[in-house]
Amino acid sequence: MNMRTVYVNGTYLPENEATISIFDRGFLMADGVYEVTSVLDGKLIDFAGHAKRLERSLNELDMPHPDCLPDLLDIHRELVRLNGIEEGMIYLQITRGAPGDRDFAFPDPATCTPTVVLFTQNKPGLANSPVAKTGIKVISVADQRWARRDIKTVQLLYPSMGKMMAKAAGVDDAWMVEDGMVTEGTSNNAYIVKGNTIITRHLGNEILHGITRAAVLRFAHEAQMQVEERSFSIAEAQAADEAFITSASMFVMPVVEIDGAAVGTGTPGPVAARLREIYLDESRKVAV
Ligand code: PDD
Repeated sequence: MNMRTVYVNGTYLPENEATISIFDRGFLMADGVYEVTSVLDGKLIDFAGHAKRLERSLNELDMPHPDCLPDLLDIHRELVRLNGIEEGMIYLQITRGAPGDRDFAFPDPATCTPTVVLFTQNKPGLANSPVAKTGIKVISVADQRWARRDIKTVQLLYPSMGKMMAKAAGVDDAWMVEDGMVTEGTSNNAYIVKGNTIITRHLGNEILHGITRAAVLRFAHEAQMQVEERSFSIAEAQAADEAFITSASMFVMPVVEIDGAAVGTGTPGPVAARLREIYLDESRKVAV
């Protein structure tokens, strides 16, 4: 891969010159939040939603707002320009900073400022992914994450383990289950379709409030589709007509198999295909 230009605390520099303190609380304590925003046609998709959720994540953790917060759109755009990204993602992470030693207590915001890092991920063909034509397979795993999944923190060890369990089982991803009900995918929101109804878990602390989820549900309503926001079990999902996931990096992606059982015909269904098309079309129109 070509050397990227990345952003660290106010400076644009080559990725191999970017450094963070060993005392950074993101490194020592996973005391940090992040966002992933996709880029299509060189423009940012759903940027306003990601910026709003980022601010909420900071506030929920009493994390000081970095001075550059109002400039994040400009910083994203500058990175897209400097790295010539047409299709891909921008990763943004803010941590509570590097207080100069390890301590469980939060540092004094007067002396310790947040660390801000952004980098690009070039993914040509992201929107035209051939995987969307075949769909993905998932297994179910127990949801063993902490209880504030509505905050987009960098504590991603369990989701990583979930992806590895999926890989070991020869499938693409895992849906997490708590109290007999699906919460979400390891890095995406989960949906099923039964008849004319799209079913996805209601918002709460148990799942991340996906920005793609919000947009897709809005488009579904506008297209006169029925939406039910409630939890569902793996058995209900296996008996559904269709299943799919949403995220900033996958958009709308069909799920064709759950724990070895084919969903519907075992091929991507019309509702997921239509929602993917609407989401991509409409999001491109308002991309910044
Ligand atoms: N993940 N749920 C979880 C647990 C997630 O990590 C994500 C996003 C989503 C979907 O949210 P959104 O539609 O706002 O991307 C749901 C990102 C893409 C990641 O970690 O790479």
